[in-house]
Amino acid sequence: MIQFVYDSDKDLFEHAIHFGEKQVKRLIDAYPNFYPMYTEGGKWKHDGPVWTHWCDGFAPGMMWVFYRHLGPDKPEAKFWMEQAIHYSKPLEERKLDRDVHDLGFIFLPTYYRWYQITKDNAVRDVVFQAGRTLAQRYHEVGQYLRSFVAEDSIFIDQMMNVGIIFYTARECNDKRLRDIAVRHCTTTRRCLVRADGSTAHEGVFDLETGEFLRQTTQQGFRGDSCWSRGLAWALYGFSTSHEYSRDPRFLHTAEVCADYYITHTPPDGVPPWDYNAPPENRSLVDSSAAAIAAAGMLRLCRLIADPMKGHFYWSTGIHILRTLCTKYLASGDPKWEGILKGGVYHVHKGLGVDESVMWGEYFFVEALEEALRVIA
Ligand code: GLY
Repeated sequence: MIQFVYDSDKDLFEHAIHFGEKQVKRLIDAYPNFYPMYTEGGKWKHDGPVWTHWCDGFAPGMMWVFYRHLGPDKPEAKFWMEQAIHYSKPLEERKLDRDVHDLGFIFLPTYYRWYQITKDNAVRDVVFQAGRTLAQRYHEVGQYLRSFVAEDSIFIDQMMNVGIIFYTARECNDKRLRDIAVRHCTTTRRCLVRADGSTAHEGVFDLETGEFLRQTTQQGFRGDSCWSRGLAWALYGFSTSHEYSRDPRFLHTAEVCADYYITHTPPDGVPPWDYNAPPENRSLVDSSAAAIAAAGMLRLCRLIADPMKGHFYWSTGIHILRTLCTKYLASGDPKWEGILKGGVYHVHKGLGVDESVMWGEYFFVEALEEALRVIA
């Protein structure tokens, strides 16, 4: 069970976001035009495989966050806007990419943020196209968006991507797109979220009948275990889905996932890589799951009508950020190129284990900026 300590957080978070800026500048200088995924021994550039191509939005996404944090009048803000545009532009062609289920991960941190700042309709059209492309993964009989691995599969991670379909549906007043997004969320909720709020990573369906067959996993310990990053994706993703749809079922799901996180995570707020991990690697944590959960809690708290409950999720998000800033920030290790230590990509494939991972960096920076806008 997470324990809370209240203190002044502004300086701690400012220091961390400033360190984040320093490390992203270092990435730009050391490896120009490179979009990393995970470190090896603290270095971004290496020959390690990537499994799937889903992380290119996170480096430019952080640049857009830095711009927003500084505000348009600061001289460094101009630098971050130029870099953010420079690193976002090459991603445009991915708006037609039908090989991945990750177009939300690519376009929400980049073109969506870009549009929020410039209100340039050509930029927003890229987001719309990505939303439409993602919706083409819809399997009518099973009522889900298929994952990148197979026609009969869904992943919990897809909950972080369905927001781009909801956004496109709302802005373009497209009921068919909205129905697809709602049905995918409903299927995910029914098949991957358990009664206790824990989540399965993957679900498999009968292609002919649409019948749900079983829970399984790619990155978690087992089909019946709770992979902590998947839980964090669910808590954040169902919050976003509620924000767009106002469907109370999705808010309820976000809350039960958040409550599972709070009651099953050690007191410092950083979970094991899988809540049911076997003894040989039970002590391995995933700081990226904590960063996503913190960002998700700060989002969820805005959606809750009960102020006490909303405050509880807010405090939890802040508490997790404090731990990340004090125990996981790489600032004490000059050779380390990432921002947060202790992230995990893929335990079974041995990729990015106890390293910095790009999504951990991005959601950490996003949560810091969000917190600082409120407490500054
Ligand atoms: N593909 C999303 C993840 O590794 O969490």
